[in-house]
Amino acid sequence: MANYKIAPSILSADFARLGEEVTAVLEAGADMVHFDVMDNHYVPNLTIGPLVCEALRKHGITADIDVHLMVKPVDRIAPDFAKAGANYITFHPEASEHIDRTLQLIRDEGCKSGLVFNPATSLDYLKYVIDKVDMVLIMSVNPGFGGQKFIPTALDKLREARRIIDASGYPIRLEIDGGIKIDNIQQVAMAGADTFVAGSAIFQSENYKTTIGEMRAELAK
Ligand code: DX5
Ligand code: ZN
Repeated sequence: MANYKIAPSILSADFARLGEEVTAVLEAGADMVHFDVMDNHYVPNLTIGPLVCEALRKHGITADIDVHLMVKPVDRIAPDFAKAGANYITFHPEASEHIDRTLQLIRDEGCKSGLVFNPATSLDYLKYVIDKVDMVLIMSVNPGFGGQKFIPTALDKLREARRIIDASGYPIRLEIDGGIKIDNIQQVAMAGADTFVAGSAIFQSENYKTTIGEMRAELAK
């Protein structure tokens, strides 16, 4: 099986018990933690910042934390997440004035860097900076909220991103985010994704271990 990673989005967790929730999904078999940062400016919602990331580290979480920045500007806050314990920091190219500089800034802080593509954003942004990218994140919903419906044109975009990544020769992860469920995870894997964000599908399920197990069974088909 390919090196698939399941990344539960804590946006759908019970924030009043966040430490326990993150421990529970990791014990249930999740590979990393997807950490959605929204600023009520770039996207119409407001979530969590570096203090919460740091609090998870202090709680004893050692798994990779995959910080998805839906904020503008990016450069001011990205280093704070690196210091707070992030492993991956991804941002939306439209939210940065100087994309090359932001990618380098994230790497200079010791993190893996990535670009996030909204449903209507072209993959052309990758062309001149692919050597500075560790993760490509394809949004299969418009960013801002959990629990939205998967937008099927993301499948073609995943295939295109997979071609670009393979042609580049760089070890770049291809992540999909938005509306991922047990019944479509295999389809997105077939289209080229290797990292799967799932928020509501996991945190709103009765049993995290069963749900993650069923996702892995789909990926093994
Ligand atoms: C949306 C976020 C997603 C979201 C996914 O802006 O980036 O990570 O939490 O939630 P589901 O899996 O419920 O679509
Ligand atoms: Zn996300």
